[in-house]
Amino acid sequence: MEAVVYTGPGSVAVKDIPRPQIEHPTDVILRLTSSAICGSDLHMYDGHTDAQPGLVFGHEPMGIVEEVGDAVRLVKEGDRVVVPFNIACGVCFNCERGFTNACLTMNAANPGGAYGYTHMGPYLGAQAEFTRVPHADWACLKLPGRPGDSNEDNFLMLADVFPTAYYATELAQVAPGKTTAVFGAGPVGLLCVHSALMRGAPIVYLVDKDKRRLEMGLSLGAIPINFLDGDPVVQIQEHLKTMRPLHDAMRYGEDKMLRGVDCVIDAVGYQAYDRQNPDQFKPNQVLLDIARVANYTATVGIIGVYTMSDPRGKTEAEKNGMIMMPWGLMWEKGLQIGTGQTPVKRFQAFLRDQIIAGKASPGSIVTDHIKIGDAPETYKEFDKRGSEVVKAVIRFI
Ligand SMILES: NC(=O)c1ccc[n+]([C@@H]2O[C@H](COP(=O)([O-])OP(=O)(O)OC[C@H]3O[C@@H](n4cnc5c(N)ncnc54)[C@H](O)[C@@H]3O)[C@@H](O)[C@H]2O)c1
Ligand SMILES: [Zn+2]
Ligand SMILES: [Zn+2]
Repeated sequence: MEAVVYTGPGSVAVKDIPRPQIEHPTDVILRLTSSAICGSDLHMYDGHTDAQPGLVFGHEPMGIVEEVGDAVRLVKEGDRVVVPFNIACGVCFNCERGFTNACLTMNAANPGGAYGYTHMGPYLGAQAEFTRVPHADWACLKLPGRPGDSNEDNFLMLADVFPTAYYATELAQVAPGKTTAVFGAGPVGLLCVHSALMRGAPIVYLVDKDKRRLEMGLSLGAIPINFLDGDPVVQIQEHLKTMRPLHDAMRYGEDKMLRGVDCVIDAVGYQAYDRQNPDQFKPNQVLLDIARVANYTATVGIIGVYTMSDPRGKTEAEKNGMIMMPWGLMWEKGLQIGTGQTPVKRFQAFLRDQIIAGKASPGSIVTDHIKIGDAPETYKEFDKRGSEVVKAVIRFI
């Protein structure tokens, strides 16, 4: 079968590899109908991890169950399903408490497994015609409809980016009446806007430098802030000053809460552009801005990825994942900070049902449907993080 294989920094190739087989009676083999390319793949693609050539990429699978292991009870051949990027057993100490992002049994090296990702276990990636789904009864979320119908992209976003964005709003405790800022207008940041508005945020700022992505954010209901036009924190503060109805309703001293926002989300991570030199990375750029734009008592969700090592870090500290943060300011403000990988399963069924009810349409961020043979070219474009490609999907149907 054909699969997208990492061949070294800045390149992937489509190669013929053996089709996966059932290895455990709890597995199913999935025939992919769609598989998405993710900003998380770019960390490996850019050589900012220790991913080794030969790794098959892809962790956002959706398709039709082709073959079922003997111990699988709930999933049947022919079912249309989407699968979380996390590989988990569903029953260990962490899974049972809902932390399927830190499953204790599926990755010998560390808690937490995933498809096609360095450090996340030996699992084949899902940018391929078929993939093996371990613990299928836990993993497979059944979907209504038929492959290629009007919900194909909406449902595909349930594998990672929609639950991830929703989890970011959960970590940041977004709720009715709470002003919110999202850094990064990639697929995750855009769906953070969508999720924050679903949860009742009255104002959602979206910070990036890419015009197209900011326009997509605007059409989702965000107030776009382009950091090429000046310090985004100052731009947000200036905009808050124009919120006349808020000013009229404030009590004595409350104006101090208009110097920032109540909830902040980092949907960028360590590959953040340096605002002074936007063609260079500055791993703590977004953390510095978040500390400034957060109100006293604000809640912060850091969903963008930070790694324990970055072979392309500029300093020894950066190479070892040591990133300077304005801890004094963060402590002084009493910020509550949530981080880490998403336990996709916790939100998947709820978000599927929002899609079915017509209340969510995460597939609107998909810009490109490609054939697997176009993956190398699409990776190159997506990697520019400012090209026409925002969310690309490999379609197999
Ligand atoms: N926690 C999880 O489980 C999880 C899951 C999926 C993705 N992620 C991570 O979320 C992050 C975003 O993913 P994506 O697919 O949207 O990636 P992406 O690379 O498409 O988007 C990142 C965006 O951030 C913008 N950006 C860069 N520097 C910035 C800065 N200083 N200020 C504001 N914006 C800036 C870029 O222009 C780009 O539009 C990545 O780090 C990804 O790995 C985490
Ligand atoms: Zn992803
Ligand atoms: Zn587990």
